[in-house]
Order: sequence, then structure tokens, then C-alpha cells
Amino acid sequence: MRFPVYITSTLFLSVFFLLELIFNIASSQDTMDDLVERGRMLYHAEPVGCWVCHGETAQGRVGPTLQFGPTPTDIFEQLESNPTMSVIMTELNLNDDDLIALSIYLRSMAELPLEDTMPAQWREALVQAKTTQAQELVFSKTERDVAVEAIESFGSVITSWEQRANEGNLESHYDSRIVATFNPGTQKFKPQKNHTYFYENIGTNSKPAVLHEGYVAPESNQVVVGDAITKEIIASYQLPVNLRNAVHGTTMSPDGKFVYIVGPREPGSDGNPDPGGSQTMLKVDALTLQPVKQITIGGRLHHGQIFQEKYLLLDVFARDPDGLGLMLYDPETDHVISGIKDIDLGGMVYTVWTDHNHIYALMEPAGYGPGRATGGRGAGNLRRGALVAMRPFWVAKIDPDNWEVIKEYPLPGYRGTWAVIDSGNKFIYIAMSGSSGLTKLNIETGEIVWTRGTGGGPFGITLSADESEIWVASKGENMGEFGRTISVLDTETGEFLATLFAAYEMDHVLLSPNGKEMWATSNGEGRILVYDSETRELTKVIDMPQNGDAHGLVWVHYNEEGVSQVVRDQGGFHGNINPAQNMPLEY
Ligand code: HEC
Repeated sequence: MRFPVYITSTLFLSVFFLLELIFNIASSQDTMDDLVERGRMLYHAEPVGCWVCHGETAQGRVGPTLQFGPTPTDIFEQLESNPTMSVIMTELNLNDDDLIALSIYLRSMAELPLEDTMPAQWREALVQAKTTQAQELVFSKTERDVAVEAIESFGSVITSWEQRANEGNLESHYDSRIVATFNPGTQKFKPQKNHTYFYENIGTNSKPAVLHEGYVAPESNQVVVGDAITKEIIASYQLPVNLRNAVHGTTMSPDGKFVYIVGPREPGSDGNPDPGGSQTMLKVDALTLQPVKQITIGGRLHHGQIFQEKYLLLDVFARDPDGLGLMLYDPETDHVISGIKDIDLGGMVYTVWTDHNHIYALMEPAGYGPGRATGGRGAGNLRRGALVAMRPFWVAKIDPDNWEVIKEYPLPGYRGTWAVIDSGNKFIYIAMSGSSGLTKLNIETGEIVWTRGTGGGPFGITLSADESEIWVASKGENMGEFGRTISVLDTETGEFLATLFAAYEMDHVLLSPNGKEMWATSNGEGRILVYDSETRELTKVIDMPQNGDAHGLVWVHYNEEGVSQVVRDQGGFHGNINPAQNMPLEY
């Protein structure tokens, strides 16, 4: 059957009109609810939404209150101009509908009136605001500009990554030698049973400029022992001047009987350091605080930590020609067991970390400074603008059973200084001094969970007992000025929680074995600051003898039988103590 054309079209039009009527009534209702919902999702987006800075109810936090009900144009103008909010541009990539949804949601949250006409009016206003802006301008680029453009995104680092380390087993050896032995002297303190002590190596490098008038530095390094509960210094011993060197971390044997400290070069025939000799480490008796042995390790000791409750994992400054970049050391035999050379890792090793299954080496691209100075020198030059780009820094994950590099993680920033692995071995947190940032990486996938800013030149980092917070010692490393703060961030979101006033050049920060205190060392002022990890209050300042620069921190516990054991060093907790797994040391 055929209808005349006019009937068909009339019928069609009326049906259409009817449908549109129904649809419109329903949709204006839906649209408002949908918009509120969409706005809510965007506002509370994880990991970064507006809530991070403006608060859960838009009450304001580091950003102002939004309870006045900003229009989409207000938000648009902030996104265009407010550098703090640039993170939102990259995370959420908001279009006009999103901005409208956010305004609607903010108004609904603040219980301000909502009109059906608002979206259309706002859309029009956005068009107007955008047309009054300068159009996208096209500038000419030099060949050099184009070359920089090709490498400037971190995405290009990831997509073009080629393993820097050689393939296969990279194990190397260094023939360590015991070059001197000393009489340990008399006992300086008598440890009590069922008590906990802290050890600290201190040096001669505090900064007179930030200490009091007439400050006189100690003449040589000292090993200091204190009471971990009263936080009083118990005893210290100053090494003979011919055994001094610029001091760094504090390392102890797992049984807590010996402390390791940087030594000078090996002695020449006159007993003084031989400028052509090998770099050494001193082994110090933990009760007499005096040296017992001097051992060549092929480099100037930087940091050490207990590895698999048996060995020491060491990293060093300047290497001897045959020296290793990282190594395992046996405190029973006082020999370097194995390690890897920088050349096999494709860059210079800075610091090394472990979850006791793997070794994580923070790697620096070579050539920006002499030898191991490359990373620090490069980062400093970058900060001053003498460098405009640098080759990437990365983490090498090493299997200590076969000494193979099994994964490399390029870092979104410059010069990783410190790494912490969570108790589930799922995430690794890395502080980067050259870009004043902290990044959280998924160990399995290599995914960067977040990267956030910290105080200037971060160095040490530590997790709180429940691992919900990470504390960062903002040392001012590679900054050309001293840092004086500790930053506290949320581990889940990377959200910034607090900046704590501290002391000059905060270096290491460690959660104490009772899980309740954050201990932080100041290189500049030669003191240890203790904070309550819950309230974040500074509860104690422990001045080192003569304010010698403080580095490291190791806790030793003596049990009921008087047997000693390290329970905490810079690499983690030991001896069945771990506040993160609800096993704090009770005191
Ligand atoms: C990283 C922190 C941060 C995030 C995330 C952020 N903001 Fe802001 N926002 C700020 C700060 C800081 C200001 C104040 C800027 C100033 O002082 O000039 C601000 C200002 C504003 C203002 C202007 C307020 C006024 O009084 O005029 C609006 C509107 C705004 N933000 C909306 C948003 C919305 C919507 C989002 C999410 C899409 C968002 N912001 C996400 C930090 C942030």
C-alpha cells in the first residue's frame, strides 16, 4: 500500500515531535543527575583529582575553598594559568562537558541553586572566553629545538629504553686484604640485657657556617653509642688522626659486635696513608669503639647494610682501578665475596638497596664528572642550567644468585639517592635529588605509580610503621644550598601531607625499631632529630660529640641472655623485628 507523500511525512513528524517531548523531559532530569555524577567522579578521581588540593568537600586545603561554586569558565581560567593545577591537565585532560559537570557537582555539594539552563549558558560563556584568547601560535624552530623536542618527554625514555647492563653473569671479584690490625683497647660501655642502643659514625665535616660562633670541629672520626630509649649518648671514641677520612654511612655486622666506618688509604711504610695505596674500611669493636682491623675494599666506603642476615651490601665512592661498583662483604672472614663492576652495569653505581632476594642499584649515566662523581656533578650542573638535558638515571635489579641484571627501571627524574621497598615487596620508592622528587614504582610491572615533588635535594626516605606515609629528608643535595626540612607524603596517592622544620642538611631518616619514632640525621649541624611518627612533633634533639657530622644510624638490641643483634639499619629491620608486619621491638 502506498500513502501519499504528505501523509507519510506528517505522521513521521508528529511521532518524532512526541518522542522528542518525552525524551527531553526525561533527559533534562537525567542530565542533571548525570552531570553531578560525572563531576563527582572527576572531582574525586584517583590518584589525582581536585580533592587532593581542594579537599574532600571543597572546603580548601593547599588550594582555596571551592564552596562558592566556580563556573566552568572560572575553572578553565585556572587550568590555563595556575601552575599548581597543571598536574590536572595531564591527569584528567578535561573537556568542556567535564568542566560543566565539575561546576554542577561543586554547586550541588555546596547546596547552591541549580538551574536547567546553566549548562547551556556556561557552554556559551566558555566559547566566548576561549575566543577572546590568543589563538594557538606557530613559532619557528631551529634544528636544535627539534632535536630537543624529540627527547624531552619521559615517554621517549621509556619507549626507547635499551638495557644498559651487559647480559649474563656479571660477577666480579676484588681481592681484599687486611692491611693493619689494632689492639681493641678497653670496653667503653657495658650493655644491659634486654636493652636497645644506637650507633652512629660521625665525622669532621659539620658546617661551621650553620653552627655557633667559635665552633671547632673534631679532629677525627668517632664511633658513638647511645641509649635508644633515653636517647642519651653513652660513649664515643675518636680515631687517631691518621685513620680519618670523610665519613659516610654507619654499617654493622648482623650480630651487632662490629661497626664499619670509612678508613683512609692503606698505610705506607711510615704508618701514614699511602696516597698510591688502596682505599680501606675500618672494623671497629662495638664495645671498645676502637678499630681492630683495616681492610682494603677497593673503594671509599659510602653506605653499607645487612644482606640476608649474613653479609654486608656495600657501595663506595671513588674506586680503585680494579674496584667494584657494589659488593657483598663477609664480616666473619673480613673479605669481599663478590660484586659487579660499573662497566658491566653500563653506568656508575650510586647507592644499593635490597629486599634480601634482589639487589637494587641506583644507576647514574657516566661522564658528567670524574668517575662516581658523575651523577652529583651532572645534577648540580642541570640545576644551574649549565646542562639543559641529561641522559636518564635508572635502577638495575640484580639477582645475587647468578649476578644477572633481570630488569632496569628508567627513572622519571634525576639522580636517585635512596630507595625503600615496602614490606610486601610490591613497590619501590626512590628519592631523586637532582629533580627534588620522589617516585613510587611497581616492582613487577615497572609502572610508575606516581611522582611528586619534595623539599629541595631529597636524600634519605623511610616508611611509617603502617606504610601509609613516607618521610623524606630534604637535604639540599646537589642544590648548592642546604635543605632544612623533612617532607611527609601519603604513600597511596603521593599526596603531600606536611613539611616539618628540621636542621640543616638532613641526610638519613629512619623509622625506629619500636615503630613509633622517626630519627633523622643532620650532616650540617651534627645532631640527630627524633620525631613522634604519629604527631610529627620533634621530641628530642641529640647533639653528637663536638657536633661531628652524623651519618647512618644502626640499632642494636641485647636480649634477655645478653646476646646482641642488629634490629635496624639503613636497609631495613632485622632479627624478626618489623613494625610494618606488626612485629615492633617493644620499648
Ligand atoms: C595540585 C593542587 C591542585 C589541584 C589538583 C587542583 N587545584 Fe584548583 N587551585 C589550586 C591552587 C593552589 C589554587 C589557588 C591559585 C592561586 O592562589 O592563584 C587553585 C585555585 C582554583 C580555583 C580558583 C578559586 C578562586 O577562588 O577563584 C578554581 C576554580 C579551582 N582551583 C578549581 C579546581 C578544580 C575544579 C580542580 C580539579 C579539576 C582543581 N582545582 C585541582 C590547586 C589545585
